[in-house]
Amino acid sequence: ANIPSEAPQLEIADPKKATQYQECVKGLKLSKDTMLKIGKIFHDEMELGLSLNPPKKSSLQMCNTYITQLPDGTEEGEFLALDLGGTNFRVILLQLSKGQLVREEVKHYHVPEALRLGHGIPLFDYLATCIHEFITEHDLEKRRIPLGFTFSFPMDQRGLDSGVLVTWTKTFNCEGVVGEDAVKMLNDAIHRRGDLNVDVIAILNDTTGTLIQGAYLDTACGIGLILGTGSNACYIEKVEKVLRWDGGKAEGAEEVIVDIESGAFGDTGVLDFIRTDFDRELDRHSLLPESFTFEKYISGRYLGELARLVMVKLVKQRLLFAGVPSEKLLTPGGFTTRFISLIEADTINHSTDNVRIVLDEIEVNFDADDINIVKDVCYLVTDRSAKLVAITLATILDRMNKPDSVTIAVDGSLYKLHPRLSTLIGKYIQEFTPARKFSLLLAEDGSGKGAGLTAALAIKMKNNAQQ
Ligand code: GLC
Repeated sequence: ANIPSEAPQLEIADPKKATQYQECVKGLKLSKDTMLKIGKIFHDEMELGLSLNPPKKSSLQMCNTYITQLPDGTEEGEFLALDLGGTNFRVILLQLSKGQLVREEVKHYHVPEALRLGHGIPLFDYLATCIHEFITEHDLEKRRIPLGFTFSFPMDQRGLDSGVLVTWTKTFNCEGVVGEDAVKMLNDAIHRRGDLNVDVIAILNDTTGTLIQGAYLDTACGIGLILGTGSNACYIEKVEKVLRWDGGKAEGAEEVIVDIESGAFGDTGVLDFIRTDFDRELDRHSLLPESFTFEKYISGRYLGELARLVMVKLVKQRLLFAGVPSEKLLTPGGFTTRFISLIEADTINHSTDNVRIVLDEIEVNFDADDINIVKDVCYLVTDRSAKLVAITLATILDRMNKPDSVTIAVDGSLYKLHPRLSTLIGKYIQEFTPARKFSLLLAEDGSGKGAGLTAALAIKMKNNAQQ
């Protein structure tokens, strides 16, 4: 379907009010020149992050994933996958036959806030309890099953089955895990129970799982992107460019997946010129201030809150809702990213149905101007997110410099639920790097299926190394 990418029509009758409104939101509008400058900085930060003795610290970790192979249709066996990163934890059983997924069983478990913000030991004990429950329910007790662990946080990997947590992000902040190997913590929890027969053979990021799942669907896949609670990308890099890779290189491997951790782009200050007061305020009240600031411009955890902060300021200036806020509008989290998706759908359909429902839900009184302004705010927040994602993707495509089209595998709740984020991202990539050929592919459940495939690849890679 051809989804229009245009901004909503902003008709504010009073010219003075229109000018004041534009003044208030101008910081959210990024020109093409600014975008290209950001692309250049992103490129330099990538280089710096890969180098051996960088002259200064890069905001991009450029983590080596140790994955040097993509699925080739020979993957076989039964695997467990764990997926931890959002507010749900999943245990998945996958069966692969000749590279095809022939069976999948999934169970979702809620991870309560007390576990997300408590000590790490109870968190990992909980994961082990969930694995036990799953295994019992599926009568798998007697088998020894290899497991791939999708742990969607920045890791310093020392191998396929070792990942030291660099920092928590998103909605997690557990004590005693940063600096520790998540595989070891999981294994310790498994041993504490003493009744689990699983073998953790690979740990991976959700972007990596998405790239692998994308490569299973389309062999031209070279980039994995997540737009969900958080945002991040990974891509296939030449081994010779990963200068920090200290030994243990797989024999003959030419390429390896690098997890950029793009959510942290600019944390060293190199992007401060695009920060608005809204961003500063959002960051100040976030779970982990001054960390993963790029992700706070982009992802599902934050877009609704950004729009809320813009609207609160507009109300204070008497440019919105006749200067009268509601309790809900004044409450952090009172305007969710789901509302942005609903309102953007109105803009596409030239409707006001959703916007009215949302404004009723947040209990404000509104007129025609208010509807137009709210639509514009949702568009501006969306548009900036799309541009920032697109410039990073355009830069990665330029860096990969492939003659043929590169497929970008994407997953994540924001990407799936927003009615035109993908349209906007596609449009901007093209604008920022016109000569490149690319396509965006929805690779659903990269963190589940991708983890199963990665476990299968891990076994193949280990066998190769031993030969
Ligand atoms: C955060 C995590 C990153 C993950 C992303 C998407 O940015 O640090 O590892 O890939 O969220 O879930």
